[in-house]
Amino acid sequence: MDASLLHANAKKMVAPGKGLLAADESTASCEKRFAAVGVPCTEETRRAYRELIVVAPGIEEYVSGIIFYDETIRQSTKDGKRFPDVLLEKGMLPGIKVDTGAKDLALHAGEKITEGLDGLRERLAEYKTFGAAFAKWRAVITIGEGVPSEACIDANAEAMARYAALCQEADIVPIVEPEVLIDGDHSLEQCYQATLAIHKKLFEKLAEEGVHLEGAILKSSMVIAGTQAAKQSSVHEVAEATVRCLKENAPADLAGIVFLSGGQGDEQATAHLDAMNKTGALPWPLTFSYSRAIQNPVLKIWAADTHANTEKAQAALLFRAKMNSLAALGKYASEMESERPY
Ligand code: G3H
Repeated sequence: MDASLLHANAKKMVAPGKGLLAADESTASCEKRFAAVGVPCTEETRRAYRELIVVAPGIEEYVSGIIFYDETIRQSTKDGKRFPDVLLEKGMLPGIKVDTGAKDLALHAGEKITEGLDGLRERLAEYKTFGAAFAKWRAVITIGEGVPSEACIDANAEAMARYAALCQEADIVPIVEPEVLIDGDHSLEQCYQATLAIHKKLFEKLAEEGVHLEGAILKSSMVIAGTQAAKQSSVHEVAEATVRCLKENAPADLAGIVFLSGGQGDEQATAHLDAMNKTGALPWPLTFSYSRAIQNPVLKIWAADTHANTEKAQAALLFRAKMNSLAALGKYASEMESERPY
């Protein structure tokens, strides 16, 4: 393990005013997203859409790295340049989603365990040859009657820690992502308790596995009431509760914390990140690693005319990336949205 390389890459991922773009939707997720905007989902349409993102001029000003899916890290631009190479030339880092998905947790109805440890050492070695500098593993935690269970928390934390150790052995920065789902009618307090529980167990397991936190990133969901909750959370409540929750368990030597958007609105996700960064000095950089909250308008514009709308879609991409970059610095204001090019 090259600790200084891991540290340097992790630092680069969360450099001031920069964040990550998650473009690692599985083929099944792509099918759903493309179907929603009326675009056929083929290997070529997925490639063309991802090319638009990767080559977007100036994206490197706001985005430090892009997370790819197995198919995507192997794809190239129409001129034959591999996507990870395009990123590296622009000073960005390529990342790779390496879990193989969340499956039903045996004997625990409604709960999931993320799989993908088998053969991971070999897969990481192959992704390294494509230039992967970091990886991502997403665990799914549901809130409900009697859940999350201890078994679900424990099994997912254990898997994430084992994944993180394998990544660091291969000099790849691990992003550990326990996503507490926003679906449901739970309160902000219930979300707080579930997030606290998975973070606590995760950092215990990471320590047990000997994971070097300066070379690791936590990808967290925000502490927020469920989408069906009678009382929705304000921006201030989300920012305050999320920062408080993170401070309980995330050690100060952790390289950084990035957030998923999890189905929040585009502007809402930006406003929450900004509010957190306005709460004062924090022990770690807090930035974005959004998929939908950045790509929603991009995909919609591209889908309206996949031949003619590339530049318009890229302008939307850059705009959302810039808003989130400002939010990562605590310098965003909702009035800025009036400038959006879509
Ligand atoms: O694993 C989840 C993605 O990396 C983030 O996606 O921002 O749409 O929740 P999202």
